[in-house]
Amino acid sequence: MMLATLKAEEQSQQLQIVEREDIEDEDDLFEAIDKLTSHGINAGDVKKLQDAGIYTCNGLMMHTKKHLTGIKGLSEAKVDKICEAAEKLVNFGYITGSDVLLRRKSVVRITTGSQALDELLGGGIETLAITEAFGEFRSGKTQLAHTLCVSTQLPTNMRGGNGKVAYIDTEGTFRPDRIVPIAERFGMDPGAVLDNIIYARAYTYEHQHNLLLGLAAKMSEEPFKLLIVDSIIALFRVDFTGRGELAERQQKLAQMLSRLTKIAEEYNVAVYMTNQVVADPGGGVFVSDPKKPAGGHVLAHAATVRLMFRKGKGEQRICKVFDAPNLPESEAVFQITPGGIADAKD
Ligand SMILES: Nc1ncnc2c1ncn2[C@@H]1O[C@H](COP(=O)(O)OP(=O)(O)OP(=O)(O)O)[C@@H](O)[C@H]1O
Ligand SMILES: [Mg+2]
Repeated sequence: MMLATLKAEEQSQQLQIVEREDIEDEDDLFEAIDKLTSHGINAGDVKKLQDAGIYTCNGLMMHTKKHLTGIKGLSEAKVDKICEAAEKLVNFGYITGSDVLLRRKSVVRITTGSQALDELLGGGIETLAITEAFGEFRSGKTQLAHTLCVSTQLPTNMRGGNGKVAYIDTEGTFRPDRIVPIAERFGMDPGAVLDNIIYARAYTYEHQHNLLLGLAAKMSEEPFKLLIVDSIIALFRVDFTGRGELAERQQKLAQMLSRLTKIAEEYNVAVYMTNQVVADPGGGVFVSDPKKPAGGHVLAHAATVRLMFRKGKGEQRICKVFDAPNLPESEAVFQITPGGIADAKD
């Protein structure tokens, strides 16, 4: 699969080598669920797991036995047998610190299109993690999503992820025609770029959840490097109203976020989700229009990196690291251009 149009033949051969290495590296991360058949599990039961969105042995171990016995046709005895077989295929126990380091080496950083923003993020949007962007309307959250749709497909030696993109749109703001000038800016064929994006519009939070379940099948078959959810919260705010439904909303939201974490870890993809802001009456008297991210503690804990976007002058936007395990709390200025997110011009 060629993701970028490149002139020099030599260069393209080099890219294919990069690609093959990537796939080899990931063999360790994936043990397809159908391998269980060689360990005494019948194909019918494997099919039941797949229908429930479980496509790898690693994915299997991310579910509780309670959840697995909830799958139609799987008894407790069967689930025990399945888990035993899976444990023979993958190591789910302790590993050494060196192995953790090795696993961290499989992290890919995808360029945002702005060098200043990339530097703020320690190189770009990371795989194996959830990056959240929240901020006022028109602050550039969706524009960054569109830019990442393209940059993820760049080869790794061009700061891309050499992979496909899945886009879940809950607000109806994905614009394929925006992809065209962004692809051209990166020297890529717009048609090929659009073909490597799978898109779904979600209308309810349940629909959104089912779309995530269905993604496992796609991600186990093809090399995805990015999952976009724009926005994570919109449908929850529509489908649950009032204080009385808040507890249930947060519980369902937590389940969805846990699904996103698992996808990031199981398939080594970057998850980029956007979030809305809500008024923060407790924001203090010195702030004229206090706002905070929606979703409360549940969302705060799920996101690995939290970014706050705000408007600057003209097309300039400011990104502040709101919360991240290993990034300093600083800011970067970027700009929204016809070719997507780019460095600010002064
Ligand atoms: N083709 C373009 N060229 C330059 N700037 C553009 C272009 N298209 C959109 N923009 C800029 O992007 C802004 C919209 O940003 P975006 O849609 O990413 O906001 P958002 O943060 O997702 O907002 P919301 O909370 O409403 O979803 C517009 O105000 C405009 O300034
Ligand atoms: Mg938006």
